[in-house]
Amino acid sequence: MNPLYEGKAKRLWATEDPNVLRMEFKNDATAFNGEKKAQFENKGRLNNAISTLIYGFLEKEGVPTHFVRQIDDTNVEVRKVDILMVEVIIRNISAGSFCKRTGIEEGRAFSQPIIEFCIKSDELGDPLVNDDYIRELSLATADELAFLRQSALKVNTILTDFFAKCGLKLVDFKLEFGRLATDPKTIVLADEISPDGCRLWDLKTGEKMDKDRFRRDLGNVMEAYAEVLERVKEATA
Ligand code: C5P
Repeated sequence: MNPLYEGKAKRLWATEDPNVLRMEFKNDATAFNGEKKAQFENKGRLNNAISTLIYGFLEKEGVPTHFVRQIDDTNVEVRKVDILMVEVIIRNISAGSFCKRTGIEEGRAFSQPIIEFCIKSDELGDPLVNDDYIRELSLATADELAFLRQSALKVNTILTDFFAKCGLKLVDFKLEFGRLATDPKTIVLADEISPDGCRLWDLKTGEKMDKDRFRRDLGNVMEAYAEVLERVKEATA
């Protein structure tokens, strides 16, 4: 059997239910749009465990997601969605491509969160776009875009508070959304939320606890992910 879709860090498989898919977390890590590659033992398991706890928490807080249930260490069941080809990035503190683009140093806290939209395209390197591009490229309707903005800000409020309880600063993160296969008018949060797609800094030491450890060759990548999982477990217990 072949996966329906294989991405850089996950595979999607069909299930007996046409409206439900199995999402498998791989051990592969990539950075800089796939230019840098590695494999980390346990990465799939750690990201699945972290993402499962966070999606469960978000659902409890009233955020609709694609999550159905965890199947095993590296697999979850998710509702089938048509993924929007626009990714949403929220930034609370300057880092990463924001610093590169603006020349501003890392670590500046913003007065309000910054929202960015990018086209989901490996080929193009996920270029930054604005509302006008999204309209003209038919990536989302005006109503959908307003919903993405509002949902992303709500998720940011919930997760900033949640990670603070874990002793972590939520610096920035990426979200993906999809239209439900069973009801395309309904948009839910899709993909995963893990240290692969969030920047998380230890509140006390400022230590990076996310994929920047891999991007910047800081070492102890999986040790940091395991520590995030322990803290997320405690905060959701
Ligand atoms: O690289 P940049 O600073 O734009 O990333 C902002 C945030 O979005 C980071 O937390 C990064 O991990 C995440 N991101 C992602 N997938 C992308 C681009 C960014 O998860 N394709």
